[in-house]
Amino acid sequence: MKVTIFGTGYVGLVTGTCLADVGHDVVCVDIDPSKVDGLNNGIVPIFEPGLAPLVKANHEAKRLAFTTDAASAIAHGEVIFIAVGTPSDEDGSADLTHVLKVAATIGTHLARPTVIVNKSTVPVGTADRVHAAVAEQLVQRGVDVEFVVASNPEFLKEGDAVNDCMRPDRIVIGTGSDYAVQQLRRLYAPFNRNHERIVVMDVRSAELTKYAANAMLATKISFMNEIAQIAERVGADVEMVRQGIGSDPRIGWHFIYPGAGYGGSCFPKDVRALANTAKQNGYRAELLESVEAVNERQKSHLFDLIVRHYGSADALRGKAFAVWGLAFKPNTDDMREASSRRLLQQLWDAGAKVRAYDPEAMEEARRIFGDRSDLMLCGDALTAVRGADALIVVTEWKTFRSPDFQKLSLTLGDATVFDGRNLYSPKDLAVHGLGYYSIGRLSHS
Ligand code: UGA
Repeated sequence: MKVTIFGTGYVGLVTGTCLADVGHDVVCVDIDPSKVDGLNNGIVPIFEPGLAPLVKANHEAKRLAFTTDAASAIAHGEVIFIAVGTPSDEDGSADLTHVLKVAATIGTHLARPTVIVNKSTVPVGTADRVHAAVAEQLVQRGVDVEFVVASNPEFLKEGDAVNDCMRPDRIVIGTGSDYAVQQLRRLYAPFNRNHERIVVMDVRSAELTKYAANAMLATKISFMNEIAQIAERVGADVEMVRQGIGSDPRIGWHFIYPGAGYGGSCFPKDVRALANTAKQNGYRAELLESVEAVNERQKSHLFDLIVRHYGSADALRGKAFAVWGLAFKPNTDDMREASSRRLLQQLWDAGAKVRAYDPEAMEEARRIFGDRSDLMLCGDALTAVRGADALIVVTEWKTFRSPDFQKLSLTLGDATVFDGRNLYSPKDLAVHGLGYYSIGRLSHS
């Protein structure tokens, strides 16, 4: 099928590439000419495992094209996806400027029956607004073209997005139009083999499904972080508690890992936006507000543990901390709302120095923080600990899982590790004479 995708960000690029890979003829549109130039020359602007070779192969096979020319791209697509960003407004609600701008552009050029699909994460009711924005342009042009606006939310995890796209556990299609269902079934047929993954529903339920999924996962994390806080106070070990509850299939093993708080471009923004939607509709979503509040507090927890160890924030002045992990999670270079950002700021405010290393996010860190005398971006994990007083682990990259504790003990000035992801066994660190603080477990120094 002929497919057009607006937005070559994370969602648009992964979706477009996977659709091309199964044989569709895909054109991706972006307003940023340098991005489009780069993509046409094989430069993929994000780090996502497996994506770059797939972009290259499909681009070379002429199934995947990139352009800034919206008019020709709109003429191309039988199905047109909107996959542009929906950042948070100041009040936490989703900013629809980009989505509605694309809708107006589509209305300016649309000339034949088309299914327009919202893939961006958008508040309930957005499909109606997109419909109105397209229709307004058609009226201005004095033309009558049939079109449907459907919702088809994405469930891609950064770091595993290609896999999630190629092997979806469900494909949610929200529309009241049989024609749209038929078109989207054809489009997704290659991903819907062996068993039925397509769930068809009305458009508002599909829009809400996306938020409900992310809010549920964020709730599980905040819940476990709250249990971790309680565990620390009552002398229990949250890792034991996790193992004790995860085996209950009603609870499950996923997303019950306590840590330094959730980050990224989705959970924080989506929990806030859903709470906001509730408020605008006369309901105070107290649970969602608490999920967000617990996460905000959790992002400061590592710093609190550090202050507790050193006796006061003043005692951190002049200290150097090695920080392992800057990305909001492993296998990505994304630092949006990453817990590391809060921690680094707190350390700098206290007058401490940071020696940081992340396997993928160094360039992003350089872009965000620029040159500063209290930040040393190090080429590897060992260089980061050299000359540091203590080590702080913020992201659970595999490469940080089994360091040489003996070496750490000899290298770190204060022989102390603050572990924001519970990667290590307190016993192992004690054997090597390392002080150890983690999340929801008894600390020793
Ligand atoms: C999330 C959802 O998992 C995807 O299904 C969804 O499609 C995506 O948002 C989106 O809306 O686009 P993502 O933000 O890439 O995906 O990352 P996750 O793997 O879900 O992790 C989010 C954060 O939660 C990370 O900071 C991670 O460290 C944290 N986390 C996750 C925990 O603290 N504990 C856990 O047990 C799991």
